[in-house]
Amino acid sequence: MEKQKVLVAGASGYLGRHVVREFASRGYIVRALVRTTENLETEGPNMEPPVREFITEIFIGDATDRKSLEGACKGVDLVFSCMGLTKPQPGVTSEQVDHLGNRALLEDALLNGVKKFIYISVFNSQKMMDVDMVKTHEFFVNDLKASGIPYTVLRPTAYFSDMGMFFNMARSGHVFLFGDGSNRFNPIHGADLAHVCADSAEGIEREIDVGGPEIFTYDQTNIMAFEALGKQPSITHVPMWIGTAALFLTGIFNKPMASVMSFAISVSGFDNVAPARGSRRLADFYGDLAAKGG
Ligand SMILES: NC(=O)c1ccc[n+]([C@@H]2O[C@H](COP(=O)([O-])OP(=O)(O)OC[C@H]3O[C@@H](n4cnc5c(N)ncnc54)[C@H](OP(=O)(O)O)[C@@H]3O)[C@@H](O)[C@H]2O)c1
Repeated sequence: MEKQKVLVAGASGYLGRHVVREFASRGYIVRALVRTTENLETEGPNMEPPVREFITEIFIGDATDRKSLEGACKGVDLVFSCMGLTKPQPGVTSEQVDHLGNRALLEDALLNGVKKFIYISVFNSQKMMDVDMVKTHEFFVNDLKASGIPYTVLRPTAYFSDMGMFFNMARSGHVFLFGDGSNRFNPIHGADLAHVCADSAEGIEREIDVGGPEIFTYDQTNIMAFEALGKQPSITHVPMWIGTAALFLTGIFNKPMASVMSFAISVSGFDNVAPARGSRRLADFYGDLAAKGG
């Protein structure tokens, strides 16, 4: 059988790098859509792999510049996009990247006869439609559904890369958590999620909610981080009303930061337990991060 070619948009990010490796290991030809090639060469901060060796073609483009995306899907069978705004970028909005950037990519996919488009949104998105970073994902999902192209939308819980942020706070000696730390969730390792993503290329499911194999409270994940570091847990629970007030003030001075904070506050406010997939354990991930030192 002829090899399928997949375009991975967001190939330089945490999930993107795991997905590149997963598709390549299954025999796909991988074209990576990135803004710069730097991150492809080295291991990421949360042990996401260097992936340059798994990539056959590189397409340079920026979601905020639709012209730069033209031709990205030429000759491609399948598009996978986890291209998204997850960190504050001055002057750049979620609408520009998550919604309009992915829509420009979808238009290019339609023009080039792509057979399927796989997209990453967020678990429990319907509970967070007041959050820019969430609703812009779902605006794109609406476009995707209306386009007529075969699609799969995956809605994952938190990635282990987010647990890496908690780990770094624990390393610095103290963790701040929004809420009382009692809400439950099941974070997933990038490699486990990448496996589900690549399976969906051949599957018929259109919408997939997915989380990791273990359920924790926010407090538990942070205590585990301190334990992996051999430190005494030190956690401050920031009441939600203080978080909301801080968000309001941040929004006046720093909109990109407020957008990220808004997601963090919202998602901590309720349980996020999605159907479990994968086998990689958080304690092992923390153990590996601790062994790396730094
Ligand atoms: N992290 C989570 O817990 C979580 C949970 C559920 C859903 N999601 C969603 O999953 C997706 C991937 O998340 P992640 O944690 O892997 O994020 P990530 O590590 O920040 O990766 C995001 C990717 O999007 C790219 N990107 C950002 N702005 C771009 C632009 N203007 N033009 C082109 N590419 C751009 C990044 O490129 P650069 O390397 O150049 O920045 C990177 O390759 C996101 O849409 C996120 O909302 C994340």
